Order: sequence, then C-alpha cells, then structure tokens
Amino acid sequence: MSDVIQIELSNINKHYGSFHALKDINLSIPKGQFVALVGPSGCGKSTLLRSIAGLESISGGTMSIAGEAVNNLPPRKRDVAMVFQSYALYPHMTVLNNLTYSLRIKGTNIKQANKAAEEIAKTIGLSDLLSRYPRELSGGQRQRVAMGRAIIRDPKAFLFDEPLSNLDASLRVHMRKEIRALHDRLGATSVYVTHDQIEAMTMADHVVVLCEGEIVQQGSPLDLYDTPANKFVAGFIGSPAMNFVEGVIGEDGKSVQLNFVHPQKIALNRKLPVGQKVDVGMRPEHLIISNDAANLSAKIAMTEATGPITYYTTDTTPELTLIQQGRGTVSTGDKIGLKIKPEHIYLFDKDTGLVL
Ligand SMILES: Nc1ncnc2c1ncn2[C@@H]1O[C@H](COP(=O)(O)OP(=O)(O)OP(=O)(O)O)[C@@H](O)[C@H]1O
Ligand SMILES: [Mg+2]
Repeated sequence: MSDVIQIELSNINKHYGSFHALKDINLSIPKGQFVALVGPSGCGKSTLLRSIAGLESISGGTMSIAGEAVNNLPPRKRDVAMVFQSYALYPHMTVLNNLTYSLRIKGTNIKQANKAAEEIAKTIGLSDLLSRYPRELSGGQRQRVAMGRAIIRDPKAFLFDEPLSNLDASLRVHMRKEIRALHDRLGATSVYVTHDQIEAMTMADHVVVLCEGEIVQQGSPLDLYDTPANKFVAGFIGSPAMNFVEGVIGEDGKSVQLNFVHPQKIALNRKLPVGQKVDVGMRPEHLIISNDAANLSAKIAMTEATGPITYYTTDTTPELTLIQQGRGTVSTGDKIGLKIKPEHIYLFDKDTGLVL
C-alpha cells in the first residue's frame, strides 16, 4: 500500500426525492488498499459504490479517482471496473470472447486481445475453459470470468457489489481468499460491498460500517472489533454477536447492575454517574465459565457442539451466548459461574448508543 490516495470522497450526499440515502460521506482510500463497505440491508452500500462508478448521480460533494475530479465524468471515463453478484456475462459468447469484449470494443486487435485474455485466464485458473459458454460453467467459474473481465481493463479501482452471495458457503470462503490474493498480486485498489461482516473482516484492510446512509465507524477490522464506537458497531461486528444487557450504574459509581429478570451486579474499572442508564456489552469469549471468583451466575439452557468450539446459551433473560474452545466442560442444565474482567465490559449510553 502507498500513501497515494486513489479514491477520495468528500461530503458525498445523495437524495432520492425526499429520501436522504447518503449523508456526508467522507472516505480516503489509499492506492493498494482493500476497503469493505459493510452494513445491514438498505444502509446505502450499493448506492455509494454505484456513485463511485458513476452509475448513480450524487446530490452533493466531490469525488476524485487517481487525482482526477470525476463528478462530471460518465462511468466509462472513470476507468473503474464493477463486479456484481449477478455476473452479467454475455450468454452467447465464449469465456474467451467475454474476457476480450471490452478490449475489442476499444479497437484492440483480436490477436492482442486474445493474448491478454490468455494471460489473465492463466492467473485466475480459466485456461481450460476459454471455449466454453457461461451456461457450461459452475457459479465459481462464472464469478472468475466476471473477475477476469474486470482485470483485463486494467482499471484504476475494482468495485465489488456482493460478488459472492450467489455461491455456496464453502466456495464463498475459497473465493474470498482468491479475490484477496488477486488484489495483492495486481496491486489493485478495491472497494468491496458486503452485508457479511465476517467477509469484510477477513478480506479487508479497512472496514467502513454504514448505517442508514451514514458512516458510523471506519478502521482496521480488529480496531472495530476491540474498540467499537457505538452499540450498533459492537453488535454488528463479531460472530457470535456481543451480548447486551440493560443496566444502571450502582450507588458507588463503580459497579453496574445488570437488569436480568433476576438482577446481578458487577464491578467496573472506571467511575460513572450514579444511576446512569446504560447498555452493557460482553463478548461471548470474554465470559469465562468458572466457579472460582465468579462475577455472574446462570444456568446452561442450550449446548451446541461443533467440534472445535462449543456454544452455550444461558437461561437468563436476556440470554447470554458463551463459547468454549474445544469440547464443552459443562452441559445443559448445569449451574455455572461466569467471570469477566472489568476491562472487557463495554458500556453504551442508553440514549445515544455511544460507547462510554
Ligand atoms: N432508485 C431509487 N429510488 C429510491 N430509493 C432508492 C433507490 N435506490 C435505492 N433506494 C433506497 O436507498 C437505500 C439504500 O439502498 P442501497 O441499494 O444502497 O442499499 P444496500 O445497502 O446496498 O442494501 P442491500 O444490502 O439490500 O443490497 C434503500 O433504502 C433503498 O430503498
Ligand atoms: Mg446492495
């Protein structure tokens, strides 16, 4: 990665009639970076990506790609390549002709175009499939052709919109790695839209979390995981998700009462205003099952063993999710103690959702 900024978005706003779809988006993407845009359905991910591509007009703000202002440039002049979930391959063309299409319409001679396509086919494992038609390919192979078509244009940036969501789980995991490896090999700049936070976390250098048209936080995957700025990010990033329990700061200001149906109190490592209402966040892996100096007590209501990890759900209301590495040491119906270190307790303002 270099310090050169490849894509710069300043105060981007987008309205659809009275609906404010993108709100003051500011984002600097260095050359070589892999950025994931993540957030729930309808938060504006595709709108933002399509705005960068020029497929969507923006209502305000400025945008530049490789140092050039692109606000007024049509999509084909922006020199970016989009890869979609629906591969949008030409069904009546072979893989080879699908790959060379963009070069042929630019007037590159056929021999040169075919040579370029063969080179790319080699790097993405399509060499044996060049004479096939899209209908004769598997989902993963089609996705590769779509990638190849983007690569052959040698674009200033790759824009991906949920490219893997049509694939089954194991192929998705495989293609994730392939796309990231390809990005690295090409020294590309990529913006990757997904609603799957694990995909975002595992593929990207920089994750941008969107909610209702706004960037709510951006940073490296583990920064977002370790230091979420608000309850939304805390709950969105991480699987299984962070546990939340409503609470109120105790009379000493240094403890919090967890408002389970049967309330329990835990100590804090900081002082907060007495009586402040909060949401308490606890990650599953930070709740350690132990009867020795436990902070909390509960009963196991459900056990799910997957082999390498055992998941538990407690009988508390609200319930807690717990995890143990390897085989479980307790079973459904057992009474357990739980230990959590004060530094692992997240507190969020009840009204604003901001971390305290
Ligand atoms: N052409 C349009 N006219 C009006 N509203 C639109 C239009 N396109 C999108 N929207 C609205 O803008 C919001 C953002 O849409 P967008 O497609 O960017 O969401 P997304 O984050 O990509 O969601 P998903 O994960 O479901 O693909 C949604 O509320 C959507 O209904
Ligand atoms: Mg979308």
